[in-house]
Amino acid sequence: MVELAFSILASDFAHLADEVATAERGGGTIVHVDVMDGHFVPNITLGPPMVKSLRAATTLPLDCHLMIENPDQFIPAFAEAGADMISVHYEACRHLNRSLQLIADHKMLPGVVINPATTVENIVEVLPMVHYVLVMSVNPGFGGQKFLPRSVDRIRHLARLRQEMGLNFRIEVDGGVAHDTVASVVEAGADMLVAGSAVFQKGRTEENARDFLRVARE
Ligand code: DX5
Ligand code: ZN
Repeated sequence: MVELAFSILASDFAHLADEVATAERGGGTIVHVDVMDGHFVPNITLGPPMVKSLRAATTLPLDCHLMIENPDQFIPAFAEAGADMISVHYEACRHLNRSLQLIADHKMLPGVVINPATTVENIVEVLPMVHYVLVMSVNPGFGGQKFLPRSVDRIRHLARLRQEMGLNFRIEVDGGVAHDTVASVVEAGADMLVAGSAVFQKGRTEENARDFLRVARE
């Protein structure tokens, strides 16, 4: 079953609990939390204190996408704050296996992320230890960017590897996924769909989420 992981980056942070509740009413089942440090990506967002507040405001799983240098340093703090799933970038980890193990040791589900310029082959060795792979379909750093069409082939490639290796990790896709691009990524094998700007819009969020899921499940 495909799921909507709504990205709160596009929401109104001053009314975060309401925004999350509204997206959930529209059918969203995962809260996607974009963590940026101004080093790995050219933008700064939020950290463990925000995750802690979110944890008190929703029962939905919190999927923390760490776009930061030295993720190992912060994994315990995200666990403590109440994160359920953590993904780290292949490009940011010197010892990727160790980072993923650290996430699992803290009783969270580990995910690995690859940027648009990274090929799927680079993460073959860690596929058996992840719960999900996040395929970036834009360069990370900002919401509202245009979907990169080559992402569809990368998802398909990953789905094929999953089958060949007899694994069952999930495939998440993030960046520019909207009503017009979602069908292609689902067809290729993605089942956790991150959407920010396609969902959050004043007065239309619930409807947007519902429409998005309807198209994704057609
Ligand atoms: C980009 C973030 C995304 C972003 C998606 O660096 O990782 O999660 O919020 O936003 P949209 O759906 O607007 O592309
Ligand atoms: Zn993200």
